[in-house]
Amino acid sequence: MAEIVPFRPEHLDEVLGLCAAEGWRSLPDDPARALRILTAPGVTTLVAVAPDGVIGFAQVLSDGELRSYLALLLVRQSRRGEGHGAALVKAVLEADTGGRLDLLSEAGSTSFYERFAHRRLPGYRLYRT
Ligand SMILES: CC(C)(COP(=O)(O)OP(=O)(O)OC[C@H]1O[C@@H](n2cnc3c(N)ncnc32)[C@H](O)[C@@H]1OP(=O)(O)O)[C@@H](O)C(=O)NCCC(=O)NCCS
Repeated sequence: MAEIVPFRPEHLDEVLGLCAAEGWRSLPDDPARALRILTAPGVTTLVAVAPDGVIGFAQVLSDGELRSYLALLLVRQSRRGEGHGAALVKAVLEADTGGRLDLLSEAGSTSFYERFAHRRLPGYRLYRT
């Protein structure tokens, strides 16, 4: 099993590699901005580190007391189904999240999240027009 540790700048290249492999361009397109995003005030980023490097990460936005949002969760494709995603979510819930976590799920990941104690609420992403 991988070790889950707080993100450090030396993890950045591997985290960006995971994003790029998934086709997520926002972070890899600007590494300096990505580092600021992953370490911003109110952000907790945890990484799952295996002997061969970083295999997953989770980024949470939190007020540190009550409300937390899971912004990013990703596990390397070749290491999925081994419990790393669930371990990252549990670690986040144990961290400074106030014990509850809101999130918007991708359609293909709903059954993953429904394995945790949860309540389903309608979710929206609003855009500036
Ligand atoms: C979603 C994701 C993080 C899950 O990570 P993972 O390490 O494969 O998950 P785990 O191995 O901890 O899975 C825990 C359980 O959920 C199940 N599960 C995992 N992904 C699932 C999915 N997409 N749909 C249904 N069940 C899933 C596993 O089979 C496992 O079941 P078990 O406890 O009975 O063995 C991973 O698939 C991923 O990175 N996906 C691409 C990015 C993504 O969609 N992120 C979430 C955005 S909302």
